[in-house]
Amino acid sequence: MSFTSEINRRRTFGIIAHPDAGKTTLTEKLLLFGGAIQEAGAVKSNKIKKGATSDFMEIERQRGISVATSVLAFEYEGIKINILDTPGHKDFAEDTFRTLTAVDSVIVVVDVAKGVEEQTEKLVEVCRMRNIPMIVFINKLDREGKDAFDLLDEVEQKLGLTVVPMSFPIGMGYDFKGIYNLWEKNINLFSGSSRKNIEETVEISDLESKKIDELIGEKAAKTLREEIELVEGIYPEFDRDAYLEGKQQPVFFGSALNNFGVRELLDCFIEIAPKPRPKQSEERLVKPDEKNFTGFVFKIHANMDPNHRDRLAFVKIVSGIFERNKPYLHVRNNKKMKFSSPNAFFAEKKEIVDISYPGDIVGLHDTGNFKIGDTLTEGENINYRGVPSFSPEHFRYINNADPLKSKQLYKGIDQLMDEGVAQLFTLELNGRKVIGTVGALQYEVIQYRLEHEYGAKCTYENLNVHKACWVEANDVKSEEFKEFLRVKQRYIAKDKQDQLVFLADSPFSLQMTQQKYPNIKFHYTSEF
Ligand code: G4P
Repeated sequence: MSFTSEINRRRTFGIIAHPDAGKTTLTEKLLLFGGAIQEAGAVKSNKIKKGATSDFMEIERQRGISVATSVLAFEYEGIKINILDTPGHKDFAEDTFRTLTAVDSVIVVVDVAKGVEEQTEKLVEVCRMRNIPMIVFINKLDREGKDAFDLLDEVEQKLGLTVVPMSFPIGMGYDFKGIYNLWEKNINLFSGSSRKNIEETVEISDLESKKIDELIGEKAAKTLREEIELVEGIYPEFDRDAYLEGKQQPVFFGSALNNFGVRELLDCFIEIAPKPRPKQSEERLVKPDEKNFTGFVFKIHANMDPNHRDRLAFVKIVSGIFERNKPYLHVRNNKKMKFSSPNAFFAEKKEIVDISYPGDIVGLHDTGNFKIGDTLTEGENINYRGVPSFSPEHFRYINNADPLKSKQLYKGIDQLMDEGVAQLFTLELNGRKVIGTVGALQYEVIQYRLEHEYGAKCTYENLNVHKACWVEANDVKSEEFKEFLRVKQRYIAKDKQDQLVFLADSPFSLQMTQQKYPNIKFHYTSEF
């Protein structure tokens, strides 16, 4: 197969959802269609189960699961599909944000009864900011849920999307009869049995067909006709370009658990979802079909075996062909590196591969050379833009609890931050180190991993910080800026990239500071 056909047949995407909406179940059904797994239950949920918060072994065990499901690849109808895992748990939201830099599109799963939930809102916002094409799958139609029109409204309002229903439910919950597929113009009848991949699909010539009355009853048929008329009146027609530009989002209804509506989703997905897309680097736009390989690290996972310090760096291939044992330039370190055992990921295993194409993910063994956002090339000096850091929600001082192990502690902290477990801020005044995290769970993970992987002990000390604000000053020589630095010196820190950060202790103090120094800008993210 030619290089171009290899690129054209790849679809790399992520599924985002609030925990429990059905992401794992849907993933599993997609894999069943691809024949990548034989039975349900093969995909392990990466959910941090309730109660795990204080159980380190459980966290470790579950981290192990999440490495296994980091990338799931399978083939369907000649298309190579790469699903990138995105943790739904809010404490791991940063992980998900970073993974979203490596996807070409996403599927958003919404629970029909719960509607749009908090985590979905945040993740969709990031996708919207980056114009990532999205398809919405409304799940659990076998249960009583919200009215379909209300749900579509909610998706539009809360998520800021422009929806286009591609299918529409016939009844719901107890009365759920099936789905009218506007895209394929047929009706799927819901039998309620979770047979693997057979659904009864009935082709219909048009909505007036008497066949519909026979299939679902006169009353339901009448309602369906009215509803479809309404759908066609209210919502725009599907426009692929608008979808690809992130301006329009097709919606499907179904039940992942019952494997219902999933084939329609998948068939439409492989037809409309984007092939690997060009990516902006700081220097230029890089196209997938360029001859030379380029790629970037979007995730780093520590080895589960504490005896091996090596880690797995996940690289998304942006352009060219990645080859085993070929020397590539690690741009940040300006160093050539060769990889003798790059891993490719399949549904239930990883394997060493000789070549990979744009859209694919390779896992590279790393002994501490990589940071999230690092770029690899064949020699060209380009840098893919990383993911911005967002202000953490929690802040604590980290103290060394074993003076003989300070080297280990700093190395451990350094590497854990490179993995993106949390953010490190160093106070300008006294050099004290502050760890900022999205969720409290990370503090326990860090403490545990420092001890078990690096032999270092730490304690934490509370610190009252509301938000970390990245500081932007037009004129660093101005009196205003100098005064700001002097007056606020207790609250000034540097992040790992040496960017200046103001640790505001309350919304009020942030507001006051902003008023007092109007020419300084304070940002909640590191990219502005
Ligand atoms: P997540 O990865 O998004 O967190 O969700 P997951 O797939 O684990 O699904 C969450 C729960 O919702 C699971 O039940 C799952 O069986 C159920 N579920 C998923 N899709 C459907 C659906 O279409 N209809 C119905 N009725 N339920 C669905 P659980 O009891 O939490 O877990 P389990 O013990 O069944 O695995």
